[in-house]
Amino acid sequence: MTTASGLDLLVQRTTTEAVGVLGLHLVHPDGELLPEWQPGAHIDVTLPSGRIRQYSLCSNPTDRTHYRIGVLREEHGRGGSLEVHNTHLTGTTMRVSAPRNRFPLVPADRYLFIAGGIGITPILAMLGDVTAPWQLIYGGRSLDTMAFRQEIADLQGGTTTLVPQDIDGLLDLEEIVGHADNDTAIYCCGPDGLLQAVEQHCAARLPPGALHLERFGAPPNSPPQNSANCEDSAFEVELARTGVTLSVPPDKTVLETVLERAPQLDYSCEEGYCGTCETRVLAGVPLHRDTVLDDAERDSGNTMMICVSRSKTPKITLDL
Ligand code: FES
Repeated sequence: MTTASGLDLLVQRTTTEAVGVLGLHLVHPDGELLPEWQPGAHIDVTLPSGRIRQYSLCSNPTDRTHYRIGVLREEHGRGGSLEVHNTHLTGTTMRVSAPRNRFPLVPADRYLFIAGGIGITPILAMLGDVTAPWQLIYGGRSLDTMAFRQEIADLQGGTTTLVPQDIDGLLDLEEIVGHADNDTAIYCCGPDGLLQAVEQHCAARLPPGALHLERFGAPPNSPPQNSANCEDSAFEVELARTGVTLSVPPDKTVLETVLERAPQLDYSCEEGYCGTCETRVLAGVPLHRDTVLDDAERDSGNTMMICVSRSKTPKITLDL
């Protein structure tokens, strides 16, 4: 059971953006303007089943009359994408969180965007926003599965290379990243195999901070982060808003422990990659195990993903 606060938005229409990619156009039921957002932002969407899923906004940020998201049909996913594709959603309302941005555009002299499949969605919003020269490398299984090709072709200010795998094979990252210089900001979104490969190529030749990426799932081959770890120890978590202190045993997560007292908490992936459960830390030192925060955010200790992260100190105080 998951919950989410936010707006109830109307699914005005759905559109087929490519084979296996459905676009959802969300509007305020009373025609009001929607909250502002910046390219790279995503929203948490509560599906009819109660599942919460994160989708990047891929409409125009200056047009606040609607949000658009693109949803890939995943036969072997966790069920959310099939629910979207198999349910008649037009005319229904769905609870949507305020946009959150963990993939913001930074100022740069040049941009290199690398998109894999549905990873084009946050990048599409960026392409319409950047004023510096940009290059987009967009890979997909085949051309007919690659969404928003015409919109991208209509954009000014950059160059696009489409790389359908059935014709051109995998992206040649050695070549692609090899042409980037230190003044180029690289943005990558797509399957984890692509993200890991891009990370490796960038680490070998570019300064730290040049690469910006967004994960849609836990890294492959990573152990399930939300399961018990025999080396974990118990600690206390204080919920500052009520003053209640709970004991988190080694075989439970903070989220599981807190849900027993506060079942209305928002969460989704329970694997530390979606950011839905991010919680402010008021005292104590978190033991981070997520893939959302960057190094500076981890070092600050200001927030933690309570579905996977624990405490280095005997007690941690959360803004809950
Ligand atoms: Fe996704 Fe915690 S629920 S990061």
